[in-house]
Amino acid sequence: MGQEDKLVLITGATEGVGKQTAIQLAKKGFSIVMMVRNKTKAEQAKKEILESTPSAKVDYIIVDLTSFKQVRAAAKKFNEKYDKLDVLINNAGLMYPERKITEDGFELCFQTNHLSHFLLTHLVLDKLKRSKQGRIINLSSEGHKMGKFDPDNFNAEKGYKAVGQYCFTKLCNLYFTYSLADKLKGTNITVNAVHPGVVRSGFGSDHDKGLLKPIFAIARLFMISNEKGAATSVFLASDPGVSKVTGKYFKNKKETRTSAKTHDAANQKLLWDYSEEKVGLKIAEPAL
Ligand SMILES: NC(=O)c1ccc[n+]([C@@H]2O[C@H](COP(=O)([O-])OP(=O)(O)OC[C@H]3O[C@@H](n4cnc5c(N)ncnc54)[C@H](OP(=O)(O)O)[C@@H]3O)[C@@H](O)[C@H]2O)c1
Repeated sequence: MGQEDKLVLITGATEGVGKQTAIQLAKKGFSIVMMVRNKTKAEQAKKEILESTPSAKVDYIIVDLTSFKQVRAAAKKFNEKYDKLDVLINNAGLMYPERKITEDGFELCFQTNHLSHFLLTHLVLDKLKRSKQGRIINLSSEGHKMGKFDPDNFNAEKGYKAVGQYCFTKLCNLYFTYSLADKLKGTNITVNAVHPGVVRSGFGSDHDKGLLKPIFAIARLFMISNEKGAATSVFLASDPGVSKVTGKYFKNKKETRTSAKTHDAANQKLLWDYSEEKVGLKIAEPAL
């Protein structure tokens, strides 16, 4: 308790880690705004949050993160309705079985996991500035270690491998976290990244077919629950002890070092400049 005046905006709260994060933050008194793509699942998540915390304030805004137009419309709705934002959790993410290009012309996993969250974050930043202490939490993964950063292959132009593309986007989440934390140093906003653990969520269920089915079934036995998977996001969103910690990566609620490549300033800048241009920030909104 004690967080009654605080508002959290979370993407991908209809399943897995995101839904549990919303449930647990509501229990702590946070008001919840879920940005999700499916109205039926949004209603179900809202019901579960209210079953667990009947007094919770829960709202949702529909957005498909494969569309910049929808991200802009969703952010506009949020900005019109709410005066300030305390915590933004860029949680939604997926690994997609095949190469698919979105209406904006980007590879689907890259746009969903990185570009759209990059855009959303900028569009709600003014509301975070109005919080006494704003927090941005980006869901990355230990998978970032296998991510290859090739500026000529952001959209898997050279061939698509689902795991490889996913790991690249999780590396992007770290580049974004570190760059943004640097740019926001000295402000009231912190930016950190999370590895939730290997979680028995809906993640990867698109791949849970054919020959891979028994492998997934066995692997699931060793995975942690969604509740445990949400613990680090909940900690970063609510713990007073991390109110000044920024530009870090957390596992099991503990600050953890990431590999040297995640601190490559040239690559961080390259991704930042690319993202800023492609989501249209350079034209539509003032640069940070
Ligand atoms: N599970 C793990 O072991 C693991 C490990 C490391 C990192 N992570 C990261 O943790 C985060 C949460 O994963 P999870 O395990 O909770 O996955 P999950 O159970 O599959 O949930 C993913 C969420 O993202 C949403 N989403 C996917 N595509 C979207 C789109 N185009 N627009 C809007 N929402 C979209 C899904 O919405 P729908 O319900 O509509 O499909 C769902 O709510 C991800 O960023 C993932 O990369 C997970």
